[in-house]
Amino acid sequence: MGANFTLDLANEAETLEFGAALAKALQPGLIIYLHGNLGAGKTTLVRGLLHAAGHGGKVKSPTYTLVEPYTVAGYNVYHFDLYRFTDDEEWEAAGFRDYFNPQSVCIIEWPEKAENVLPVPDIDISFTIQASGRNVSLTAHSVPGQRYLDTIIKNYDKSLSKSKSYE
Ligand SMILES: Nc1ncnc2c1ncn2[C@@H]1O[C@H](COP(=O)(O)OP(=O)(O)OP(=O)(O)O)[C@@H](O)[C@H]1O
Ligand SMILES: [Mg+2]
Repeated sequence: MGANFTLDLANEAETLEFGAALAKALQPGLIIYLHGNLGAGKTTLVRGLLHAAGHGGKVKSPTYTLVEPYTVAGYNVYHFDLYRFTDDEEWEAAGFRDYFNPQSVCIIEWPEKAENVLPVPDIDISFTIQASGRNVSLTAHSVPGQRYLDTIIKNYDKSLSKSKSYE
């Protein structure tokens, strides 16, 4: 466990494309943490993921509601933004615990704000802002997380070699 994969994303289009690679391998039950500063690209990645998974509408950050539910490919995807989460008791009161179940994917921006109440992740994705573009690092923490990471790497390699062959 703890296997790691790092890559550079040169611009927003590459973040969206990497989100699409995450969508292809997605499995119900996964818990994904997204780390990185304000404006690092977390919501952009989720947008790429949800659009590739078949969601046709907008993907906005649930800054005030804390979570936005989607249904794609026959299961639920819950997109959390916990930047404004302050009160651990709100977790139970809002019923957030029930969102974490084998039929649902949970993707969480700002997990640091709710570390006392959040379940542990299958995979961590960390963004670092570079002079130009972003660096992204993925770390698996469970058997399903490792399987997911392996599939992402395989799919992403394929899409890279495909785009190269068009050059
Ligand atoms: N690889 C990239 N290189 C350069 N700019 C990028 C890249 N990916 C996304 N961006 C841009 O960076 C910004 C990221 O905004 P986004 O809302 O996704 O950040 P966030 O991490 O969700 O921030 P917050 O913590 O405020 O929710 C957008 O303006 C987007 O166009
Ligand atoms: Mg965001």
